[in-house]
Formats: sequence, C-alpha cells, structure tokens
Amino acid sequence: MATAALRQLFEGMKAFKGGDQRVRLFRPWLNMERMLRSALRLCLPSFDKIELLECIRRLVEVDQDWVPGSMGTSLYVRPVLIGNEPSLGVGHPTRALLFVILSPVGAYFPGDALKPVSLLADPSFIRAWVGGVGNYKLGGNYGPTVLVQQEAQKKGCEQVLWLYGPDHELTEVGTMNIFVFWTYEDGVLELVTPPLDGIILPGIVRQSLLDLARTWGEFRVVERKITMKEFLRALKDGRVREVFGSGTACQVCPVHQILYQGKHFHIPTMENGPQLILRFHKELKAIQYGSKAHEWMLPV
Ligand SMILES: Cc1ncc(COP(=O)(O)O)c(C=O)c1O
Repeated sequence: MATAALRQLFEGMKAFKGGDQRVRLFRPWLNMERMLRSALRLCLPSFDKIELLECIRRLVEVDQDWVPGSMGTSLYVRPVLIGNEPSLGVGHPTRALLFVILSPVGAYFPGDALKPVSLLADPSFIRAWVGGVGNYKLGGNYGPTVLVQQEAQKKGCEQVLWLYGPDHELTEVGTMNIFVFWTYEDGVLELVTPPLDGIILPGIVRQSLLDLARTWGEFRVVERKITMKEFLRALKDGRVREVFGSGTACQVCPVHQILYQGKHFHIPTMENGPQLILRFHKELKAIQYGSKAHEWMLPV
C-alpha cells in the first residue's frame, strides 16, 4: 500500500427517493465520465463507464432501504479509485482499488430555509492554476484546502472564494462552482459562470443550471471570466441580483457577503428573493424526486 497516497480520486453523486418510493440517480453518466478523466490523468487503469454505473446502480438497489424518503434528503454515493502499488517509487501503477461508499444524508437546508454563506476572498491562496489539475476531482486538490477553510473561519467567513491571476478572477466557492446573476455592463440581464478553462471543476450541477437556464431562454446565459474589479463595479452600481454556488451537496447555495482586501461587501442575494435560486431549487427537486419525468434521472 506504500504509494496509495500518491494517487487518489473520487466522485460525489446522489440518489433520491421520490414520492412514488422509486429511487433515481441524478445524471450519473456525467460522474462516470468525470471519474474516467480523473483516472486517466493519474495513470490509473481506465474502466468501462457503463459497467461501473451498472455496479453502482445495483449497489444502490441492494441498499435502497437506506435511501431516506423525505424532501431534501438523499443517499450520497462516493466512488473512489486509489493506486495501491506495494512499492515506494513514483512510477506507473500496476494495481488499483475501486470502491464505492454510500451514506444517507439529511437536507442541506432543513425546512427549505435557505442559509446564505459569507466568503473570504484572499488572492494569496490558490486552489488551481492553468496547466494544473483543478479540473479533475483528485484527492490532492482537496487536502490542502482545509487549512484555507480554517483561515476563512478565523476571519468570521463560512467559505473560501477562490480567486485566480492578476485580475483576481472569481473561480469557485469552497467546493462549489460560482454563478452571478446580474445586469452586465452592456445593460443585458445575464447568468454568468467562469468557463471550463482548466482551473474550474466541471460540476454536474453547474452543467444542469446552465442547461435549465438555456432551456428557459429568458436571460443571457454565458460562460465568461468574472474579475473582482468588474464584480465590485457592478455591486456599486446596484446591478448584482444574486450570487450563488452550485454543487451536489447543497445544489444551489446563496452568497450574501464577501470579505476582500479587508472590506466586507454585502451581496443583495437574499433581498432579491432569491428568485433565481428558488426557481433552480424547485426545478431540480421536481426532476430529482421524480414529480417531473426527466432523462437526467437513472431509475434504480
Ligand atoms: C472544487 C469543486 N467545484 C465544484 C464542485 C461541484 O461539482 P458537482 O456539481 O458535480 O457536485 C465540486 C464538487 O464536486 C468541487 O469539489
């Protein structure tokens, strides 16, 4: 097991039990694709995505009594792949171990009461960089973030807003993708999230929010860099409506405050409804808990 620590990757997905008592996995094909990309990046063995998904489906089926039934709850599914070569060298692995952990989880926002988070934006901490591996879900990307998260808490913030580069681009929030719903400089209402340029984890919920918003066609939906300078300008002009993170754990999480260069900036997300966040929650719930049949769900 000597080099096991060198190579570790994982996935995070959820199974939901609907009012009809049927259990469904949310867009698991995308998790299998992301996991395979991570495996290839670490020179771990490739695997058949369809086959692994069928193993997971069967596992959840066997354990389906563990899937909680009330709204907001789910079964978290954590596939893991590690190298377990019995050697000290840094070389091509010849052995690997793939396993899947299941755990029932409660509602992230009990009683549907959205709780906004405050963020520490300190450009001296960098989560991922161009040419690095921030766009893969590797264990090595997460261990070093815990200390920064503690730093945020010491400063009274709940999570970290990861900035990047000389322009202090907003990239991600803790372990979530970031979205801004605002009126852009050209006067057009838009939903914006940073593009998948190598430093952003391609989140499944991120993709889903983009897909839903594009289907609605009610405002511009764009993948574009967002810098702190343009964000603060928009905030000052009163053009920012909602800021939120997206991820499997919370689905969509409002942001109400950012601590940047020693100043607290209030974001009026909650004052604005938050209309878009609530709409995303409603739509995702309808799909995930089966009240709206959707091709994104894999019945277990
Ligand atoms: C760094 C990071 N960004 C974003 C996400 C959100 O991804 P997903 O929507 O697939 O949960 C995660 C969680 O996996 C993450 O770890």
